[in-house]
Amino acid sequence: MSERVVAGGGRLRGEVRVPGDKSVSHRALIFGALAEGVSEASGLAPGADVRSTRGVLEALGVEFSDAPGGVVRVSGRGLGGLTAPAEALDAGNSGTTTRLMAGVLAGHSFSSEIAGDESLNRRPMKRVAEPLRAMGAKIDLTKTGTAPMTIRGGDLRGLAYEMPVASAQVKSAILLAGLHAAGTTIVAEKSPTRDHTERMLTLFGAPPKLHGGAVEIEGGARLRAARVEVPGDPSSAAFWVVAAAAREGGEIVVRGVLSNSSRGGYLRVLERMGASVRREPAPARGGEECEDLIARGGRLRGVEVAADEIPSLVDEVPILALAAAVAEGESRFRGLDELRHKESDRLAAIAELLGRFGAVARVSGDDLIVAGGARLRGARIDPRADHRLAMTAYVAGFLAEGETRVRDAECASISYPSFYDDFDARRSA
Ligand code: S3P
Repeated sequence: MSERVVAGGGRLRGEVRVPGDKSVSHRALIFGALAEGVSEASGLAPGADVRSTRGVLEALGVEFSDAPGGVVRVSGRGLGGLTAPAEALDAGNSGTTTRLMAGVLAGHSFSSEIAGDESLNRRPMKRVAEPLRAMGAKIDLTKTGTAPMTIRGGDLRGLAYEMPVASAQVKSAILLAGLHAAGTTIVAEKSPTRDHTERMLTLFGAPPKLHGGAVEIEGGARLRAARVEVPGDPSSAAFWVVAAAAREGGEIVVRGVLSNSSRGGYLRVLERMGASVRREPAPARGGEECEDLIARGGRLRGVEVAADEIPSLVDEVPILALAAAVAEGESRFRGLDELRHKESDRLAAIAELLGRFGAVARVSGDDLIVAGGARLRGARIDPRADHRLAMTAYVAGFLAEGETRVRDAECASISYPSFYDDFDARRSA
């Protein structure tokens, strides 16, 4: 297992392009596979999660080819055109692959099994199995409601569903199943979650109807092949923005980042913390607006984050909590129950990670309270195989005094394989 050592101190300067957005990349491949004709995706997220989606689709008969310039061609099989896999489908560490593909598999009349690594096989799948069963799919889970998940689909009927949890993965699974179902499918959500599936439906020629927090689609709508240029991932950009904003004297420009308000909660929170982040429009890509982010070092202050903001920053809580630890004054993040079900129990893990660096953070119910004003000191961190914790620990090491060792640091390659090298290349004394 690789360990990465980071010495505290210095400044960040320069420009960076982050990898393509992971959520958009998964969807570009899945929609390409379900469309008629050959789709092209470029700038796909290079991490292991998106490779898992490609591998699962290949096992279901979809052909991909790699063209120059990082372009991936997907030969679409049309709705309902996937073929039964020869063996169990391996989703690796990827919850998005598992849940979105559960929706697709529910629309096919063969039986298949999907599972992944130890962390994935601990994550809750009832949330996706229940609505898909209500549409007519037969789904078996383990006794604890986790993968391996066996799915026999086909003959689905449309569903009107009010989501009990705020989850774009569940919403997307139902919409993907709805494409294969007879009649209308409507998904209503209390707090808006990322809307990439809705945008992708439009890009592939089957725009959904959107009304007051609900998405409506008709079954059987044909998808036309499309070209998707994937924008930079804001969840990866967040590490740069916080690392630059939290130390005076630094300045980082992050180019071509997806600018979508359903993902922009972290920027709104950093703005309330007093961070200097300029946002400049950049050319749109893949049906999504984009921006350049220019983050400058300065002083941060503590912040209150409300529960209904969490879906728009759910993957950025670890790095925002680190910003809160070095800010002046207390911060409170409310309603973080969903973080218990990520690649690790991120709620407990964040409090523990900050504690190891000498910051004071505690969990109270579903809230995280971070004392602020910490002088971080180097630490030894086990990121629990969670990519976002590993990268948060690395940034904390940069902000700390002394040396930090991040065990098993290569888990960052789930979403951002070049993160540490990119980071080191932009540091100066
Ligand atoms: C994602 C949705 C979110 C997010 C994950 C990607 C997606 O998960 O945490 O990294 O692409 O739909 P939930 O749907 O579990 O909130």
